[in-house]
Amino acid sequence: METPTHIAIIMDGNGRWAKKRFLPRVAGHVRGVKRVKDSIEQCLEFNIKYLTLFAFGRDNWKRPQEEVSFLMDLLLEQINKEFTKLHDKNICVRFIGDRSRIDKSLVDRIESIEHLTQKNDKLFLSIALDYSGTYDITQAVNKIIQLSPKTAISEKDFSRYLLSYPYPSVDLFIRTGGEYRLSDFMLWDLAYSECYFTTKLWPDFDKTVFCAAMKWFNSRERRFGMISEQL
Ligand code: FPP
Repeated sequence: METPTHIAIIMDGNGRWAKKRFLPRVAGHVRGVKRVKDSIEQCLEFNIKYLTLFAFGRDNWKRPQEEVSFLMDLLLEQINKEFTKLHDKNICVRFIGDRSRIDKSLVDRIESIEHLTQKNDKLFLSIALDYSGTYDITQAVNKIIQLSPKTAISEKDFSRYLLSYPYPSVDLFIRTGGEYRLSDFMLWDLAYSECYFTTKLWPDFDKTVFCAAMKWFNSRERRFGMISEQL
């Protein structure tokens, strides 16, 4: 079975999962954490090297303040709780996104876990926080302008300035929750991704759904602009 090298996921449907159970929306996020852990385990089991999770988008600041605070606190709590476990599993953790608006206590913990796990290489886990694909491309352009304003640049050179660098582009993109859009996630990195959409809500994203996505990926013919006969 051919496994993807890099999986990226929009973990959608937490709020609806909670609403269906007459629970507050944040209960869905708590349940979602369990599925984050399950997905990490699945990646370790399938020997998938790169996993990127969209934890908080730039547009998510528009949510009610209590939900934003809850999500930030949940992340901080999870980093504190899972810190050594992730390290023991030889997982390299990093966060991609704009850190300027994130609380200093969370940024400090993010930097500690990144530092602690930087040499690990079993799985490269990226958490997208205050991230968007358009932000990523814009910050890359701004870095380039500062460095060499008059030099033309190739696609390959441009990609070195993206937040995902030096990780490979995404092979399999998964979105749960029954929405069929990219919501400004990894626009450059998804250029040739196979896109798997499921109506399952993120808190229901168990091993069966993960395996279904993997099986579906395996059935795809990836031509990258060529024709079947050339592969
Ligand atoms: C989208 O569902 C989910 C989020 C914006 C937050 C995702 C966060 C987690 C799964 C928990 C923390 C993550 C980590 C990495 C520890 P939604 O709230 O938009 O659901 P809805 O569409 O049903 O309202």
